[in-house]
Amino acid sequence: MARSALLNVMVQAAMKAGRSLSRDFGEVQNLQVSLKGPSDYVSQADRKAEEIIHAELSRARPGYAFLMEERGAVDGEDDQHRWIVDPLDGTTNFLHGIPIFSISIALERQGQIVAGVIYNPAMDELYTAERGGGAFMNDRRLRVAGRTKLSDAVIGTGIPHLGRGHHGNYLVELRNVMGETAGVRRMGSAALDLAYVAAGRLDGFWEEPLAPWDTAAGILMVREAGGFVTDKKGGNDMFGTTTVVAGNEAIHRALLKTLKKPVTPR
Ligand code: IPD
Ligand code: CA
Ligand code: CA
Repeated sequence: MARSALLNVMVQAAMKAGRSLSRDFGEVQNLQVSLKGPSDYVSQADRKAEEIIHAELSRARPGYAFLMEERGAVDGEDDQHRWIVDPLDGTTNFLHGIPIFSISIALERQGQIVAGVIYNPAMDELYTAERGGGAFMNDRRLRVAGRTKLSDAVIGTGIPHLGRGHHGNYLVELRNVMGETAGVRRMGSAALDLAYVAAGRLDGFWEEPLAPWDTAAGILMVREAGGFVTDKKGGNDMFGTTTVVAGNEAIHRALLKTLKKPVTPR
């Protein structure tokens, strides 16, 4: 498959960081048995992957700004372009030796996401999308799933954990969604959740709070695969509200409605 020069740059950065993460993931599996566990090691792996991506992207496109999970915002001379990067999405899985994690890289041009790459090195699955050019997994073109009824749908989510999110509100949402769908999945990497919606593996997805680096590439991926992504109110402020709801047109609409319902005892 012929990719644009821009996607090639992004893919190269993601694959190089992916090789580094894969080596470290092997080591993490060995460290599981130690009392302290591999957490310092994982922080290092995360930072190393970010270094690699930063170096690769800065070399290929000098002057572009960055928003990276570890470094935060880095200004560039070019105020039209910004890379939005999560070098390791699914840290908890990585730490526990679960091979569901990813690298997420998006490019924003004048405030609009124009390209996205999500790579799961453990499964060697590479997701790419460019605005107007469709979404792909490796060389296969992606299309969101065709199911239109929530009762047939498998929906991804992120369950808030210790110190994160509003647990009471989330339980209300989960209760409503679990009562109306064929199943709910918690994969542990929001970027991959969105890639899975694009690939038709998940019929829909919702989560909050999520940062721009968790969702930027995935939002484009879903839209380029023919799907819908909004914030929880149905608007386009996913970064500002930190909320994301995704699916094909019918599932997205139904999910938005279900998430708004009060709890009804059943
Ligand atoms: C996390 C993952 C996870 C989501 C969390 C995110 P991290 O990112 O995307 O699926 O539920 O809220 O923070 O911390 O592994 O980069
Ligand atoms: Ca993340
Ligand atoms: Ca991360």
